[in-house]
Amino acid sequence: MNTVIRVTLVALTLSCLAACSGGEPKSAAGDASKPIVLGFSQIGAESEWRTANTTSVQSAATDAGITLRFSDAQQKQENQIKALRSFIAQRVDVIAFSPVVETGWETVLREAKAAKIPVILTDRAVEVPDDTLYLSLIGSDFVEEGRKAGRWLLENTKDAKGDINIVELQGTVGSAPANDRKKGFAEIIAADPRYKVIRSQTGDFTRAKGKEVMEAFLKAEGKKINVLFAHNDDMAIGAIQAIEEAGMKPGSDITIISIDGVKGAFEAMIAGKLNVTVECSPLLGPQLMAAVKDVVAGKPIAKRIVTEESVFPKETAAQILPTRKY
Ligand code: AHR
Repeated sequence: MNTVIRVTLVALTLSCLAACSGGEPKSAAGDASKPIVLGFSQIGAESEWRTANTTSVQSAATDAGITLRFSDAQQKQENQIKALRSFIAQRVDVIAFSPVVETGWETVLREAKAAKIPVILTDRAVEVPDDTLYLSLIGSDFVEEGRKAGRWLLENTKDAKGDINIVELQGTVGSAPANDRKKGFAEIIAADPRYKVIRSQTGDFTRAKGKEVMEAFLKAEGKKINVLFAHNDDMAIGAIQAIEEAGMKPGSDITIISIDGVKGAFEAMIAGKLNVTVECSPLLGPQLMAAVKDVVAGKPIAKRIVTEESVFPKETAAQILPTRKY
């Protein structure tokens, strides 16, 4: 099954450029022969997912004839804020960014609004008191991803006897996917008191941290651990290494659930070391470029554009892997 990204309009109200960015479209009325300039602030390169997301944005910009000013924040909010200010100073046509954490954006977004530069969020959400500070959020429903992980677990362990001890590797502290995936997963497992999260700590969405934190979990809890819920595939892959080094079998001694659906996860599933991955598509570039063009042309765009995603249990991995694009 191919990953199909379809645009779902979840907001009842279409956002209007003038209403949301506080002014007329910057270049709609301007010189149509000039290429659109998009400033994009990426979080970093913490995971296979992020690398695929960067490639998607860069190649979609080239295909769309949009001039991309790309900035890598190396995981730091202060670098993203600097990049946004630099895009404002350069007077780009549109700013897009994937916010590393949810809070702390209001001031810089107000500066963009005052400069009449529309802002589009990709992948992750921000928490601001005024949602007219950005035009649209294009990306996954992370709460639903956490729910899907929880539902898979309940469904696939319903005949297990006694308590089911879960350890959780969270994503970056304060990020939308970490907050939301935790919430969605907790909501589903709350239906059955046998499911207990006995340890939960951040692994910052990286393999190295995932391994390190899993080692600590194993040291503290050892064979008590029945399930690992990792907020992304990279941390699960790091944890798999830790589990093997501890002399246990990932995928059977410990059931492992993760999120993203990167090729590395499919390889781990084929090797029997990962039980399931919940898809989170990084291929947001084409949707972003379409939205940028609409914004510059003064057309309304949806406030929320949600990517549609699947769940891939290990039994499907060998068949699906050749069709994966990231
Ligand atoms: O925001 C999406 C998350 O960020 C992905 O799940 C993770 O792999 C990435 O680093």
